[in-house]
Amino acid sequence: SIYLVIAVLLAYLFGSIPTAVWLGQAFYGVDVREYGSGNAGATNTFRVLGPRAGSIVMFVDIFKGWTATNLAYLIELGQNTSDVQFVNFQLALGVIAVIGHLFPVFAGFRGGKGVATLCGMILAIHTPAALVCVSVFIIILLTTHYVSLSSISAGFAFPFSLAFIFKTTIPSVLLYGIAICILLLITHQKNIERLLKGHESKIYLFKKKSK
Ligand code: G3P
Repeated sequence: SIYLVIAVLLAYLFGSIPTAVWLGQAFYGVDVREYGSGNAGATNTFRVLGPRAGSIVMFVDIFKGWTATNLAYLIELGQNTSDVQFVNFQLALGVIAVIGHLFPVFAGFRGGKGVATLCGMILAIHTPAALVCVSVFIIILLTTHYVSLSSISAGFAFPFSLAFIFKTTIPSVLLYGIAICILLLITHQKNIERLLKGHESKIYLFKKKSK
């Protein structure tokens, strides 16, 4: 239906909002993609421009994913959907927003890794699972100081918590969960290489890096 087309288009456009690039350019005169990891995300904004800018990018990017996912309610206006179908729409729209974040039409198709956007999607779909993912993220970050490792671990916590804690039996949801893990491994290829070589940069939330 026309609602479906509009929802898909809007999800991509929401995801495409290059928060890190625009915030850096507007308030700091800097394209964060030219520094640090070169990624247009909250982590690299934190790294390059500091905690305040990084937090803003994180919240806006989470909100993007959450909003895009909730566009499923727009599709529901057009037709009757079952619970399973609705959550499938949510997942599809969330992933489309992530694709927008990865390849933003507003920033030369060079975006981020989609972690915050995925977090927003999971928040909208299954808030308890999102809390598990966020907890895993925080624990790994505070113990290892590697954001990339925290992101990958939190992503894996999504299908695992759905299957083993929340006992989800909807096959498409579990398949999407596994697809998200694979996507995170792909977007974090460079980070994984650096982690294995011991070259990955560390992020300290509460204290300055001391050599
Ligand atoms: O938010 C993406 C994060 O997992 C890694 O970011 O900049 O360290 O590659 P970065």
